[in-house]
Amino acid sequence: MRYTLRKSEGRKSRWRFSPGIRLKLIAFLLPLVFLLVVSVAATVTRITDSAIRRDLLQRGVAISRVVAFSAGYSLLSGDRLALDSLAAETKNSAADIEYVSIRDMGDTVLAHSRIEERGKGYLRPAGAKPLGTFVDTRADEAMEGGRALIEFTTPILFSGKRVGTVSLSLSKKSLVTAQEGIRRSIIIAASVVLGIALLSTLALASVITTPVKKLSSGVNDLASGATFRPIPVRWGDELGELTRNFNRMAETILAQQNRLSRYAKEVEEAYVSLVRVIAASIDARDPYTLGHSTRVARISCEMGRKLGFSGEELEHLEKACLFHDVGKIRTPDDILLKGYSLTSPEVVEMRAHPGDGAEILRMAPSLHRYIAVVRSHHEWYNGQGYPDGKKGSEIPIHSQIIALADAFDAMTSTRPYRKGLTPGEAIEEILRFRGTQFSPELTDVFVRMAKDLPVLETEEWKGMAL
Ligand SMILES: [Fe+2]
Repeated sequence: MRYTLRKSEGRKSRWRFSPGIRLKLIAFLLPLVFLLVVSVAATVTRITDSAIRRDLLQRGVAISRVVAFSAGYSLLSGDRLALDSLAAETKNSAADIEYVSIRDMGDTVLAHSRIEERGKGYLRPAGAKPLGTFVDTRADEAMEGGRALIEFTTPILFSGKRVGTVSLSLSKKSLVTAQEGIRRSIIIAASVVLGIALLSTLALASVITTPVKKLSSGVNDLASGATFRPIPVRWGDELGELTRNFNRMAETILAQQNRLSRYAKEVEEAYVSLVRVIAASIDARDPYTLGHSTRVARISCEMGRKLGFSGEELEHLEKACLFHDVGKIRTPDDILLKGYSLTSPEVVEMRAHPGDGAEILRMAPSLHRYIAVVRSHHEWYNGQGYPDGKKGSEIPIHSQIIALADAFDAMTSTRPYRKGLTPGEAIEEILRFRGTQFSPELTDVFVRMAKDLPVLETEEWKGMAL
């Protein structure tokens, strides 16, 4: 049983009952089986009731006729003792015989299994309902003393002439008992059949729903991008064929997805390579900043390691460093190479490069993750930076790291108009801007790291910057 949340347009969200295939099968099959079993049980009950009743009537008619046949001679010869004996023995011959009465032509009781009835006139039981006549015996349904019985009345014939009447009654208790016994057996049998039908329906539902559920799970895995494993095919029917086709389709989709991912990675790598080339070209426009982006990347990644960045974060940080000044491709050479005493319009032009870099990265969806970092690498911790005046935690942490590395590399680089600072002097300068241009916490991490920065020991660094 499942419940799903469906949201209809213009309506409030509400839970809707959505029964699964198993429940639908059970709901459809069980009532059918129930109706079938009940109708079969009712028919069997009716037939057995009828058979039991017929047997009782046949037995009563037979006994009554035998008594009538036996009583003929004794009646004519006036042998009352023989008639008494016949009535008593007949009564004792079966437990369900209520009484036996032998009467003469005037309906006076000559012999009776109840001695007190002898000599009385015959009284037909009140409310007797005729059930029919069988050969020469009439059967009536009646009540006597609160007990239901059937009275059989047979004429006593001698030489073809009627000389008296025999009445014999059978209790219906045995009939009711037999019917109840049969009904009990039928109810037990019907319950067993219903139980088996329920189990069979559940088994059938399971046989049908298990492969469907596996297919549904496979579709979900495929749709969500989770690891997909081919669904085992255990059936040779239509569901098995469907599963085989689904596996083939999933393999095709996954192969295409892998191909697309590979293409996307190749495109991204090509674009990154292009941007690396552009970054290197920009650095190369000024011989004194040659290798700047690469050095900023090395310092920043060292700091990222001190901060406990993951491998993926370090890769992200390294690329952001390579891209950080890519916007300078739009900065004219005379401004880029001037380096000092810029006029106000030139400062505006120079300060456009973080925004320009963000615009360039916006052209490739796979590089969108670097846009915010590149745009904010000249923001100040106190909000006095550019281009957006962000401050504190509004500035991405990668931008704050790049800002420190960028400043350190710029200060330690020698320019035509000034000699580069020593690392120690640059650190002192950075500390002067702790809490204004740079984050206090990151400044402290940077200073601790810079004192034993391995990259400063390399020939490349010494040659380029110090
Ligand atoms: Fe920059």
